[in-house]
Amino acid sequence: MSILEKLGITVNPKLRAVALTGAGISMESGVPIFRGRGSIWEIPEARRLASRAGPPWNTKETWEFYEWRRKLVSQCKPNVAHYTLAEMEGYFENFWLITQNVDGLHKKAGSKNILELHGNMWKGRCTKCGRVVELLETPLASLPPYCVCDYALRPHVVQFGEPIDRETLSQAFTAARQSELFFVIGTSGVVSPASQMPLLALENRAKVVEINPNPTALTPYMSLSIRGKAAEALPQFWKELLTSVDIS
Ligand code: OAD
Repeated sequence: MSILEKLGITVNPKLRAVALTGAGISMESGVPIFRGRGSIWEIPEARRLASRAGPPWNTKETWEFYEWRRKLVSQCKPNVAHYTLAEMEGYFENFWLITQNVDGLHKKAGSKNILELHGNMWKGRCTKCGRVVELLETPLASLPPYCVCDYALRPHVVQFGEPIDRETLSQAFTAARQSELFFVIGTSGVVSPASQMPLLALENRAKVVEINPNPTALTPYMSLSIRGKAAEALPQFWKELLTSVDIS
């Protein structure tokens, strides 16, 4: 049985398509994931800093942790999975990329319709005047960096227990609710509200395809689960989808 038969859809540019990505898509780029052996939340200091019980987020201490992550990610390049998503955006007339990642690799790969649920490590935010500032260089000249209003910036990244930007969340919910084809790539599916998005898509009778080397909390609900690394399985699956399209 072909993939399209399994999915029961005809792929065409008019399908409303969405991809939800998590840390696993950046694994082949060298960015550590959050859960499991060798992951970020295994570092006690990282957990402490990212939680509400930690220090205020515009301190030198918080920025030192982010500078460590920023330096690491500055040495990483998008991989073929990131580029495939950019290609998919070019194919579908209506495509949204919802990501939990803060590494900025989707933008580097050329994706444009990106909804960054958890913020972006290459930006700082002023908790006094609300300004969001791009901070692309690493190391930063001084820690913490300062806003033009002379107040210390915090990383523009959602921490444990914090709400997600309302506008971004609303756009993501709408995209998920209206989608007809939904990809879930490299996420453990345990962090809400991101984990709700594929379920909303299913309510719209979307076909939901998971790509992950391991089963996840979302696997039981998937229309199709592909066990593989994003950088291998996604380009392969996308090629198969395109070659099975009836172009007559
Ligand atoms: P996790 O670390 O929870 O999950 C990573 C997922 O990637 C797992 O399901 C792995 O099986 C999968 N994976 C590993 N290697 C892969 C590969 N080569 N290709 C594809 N998948 C692979 O990361 P997230 O689900 O992204 O939030 O975590 C969600 C949120 O939890 C993060 O955004 C972060 C964290 O707390 C904040 O920091 C706000």
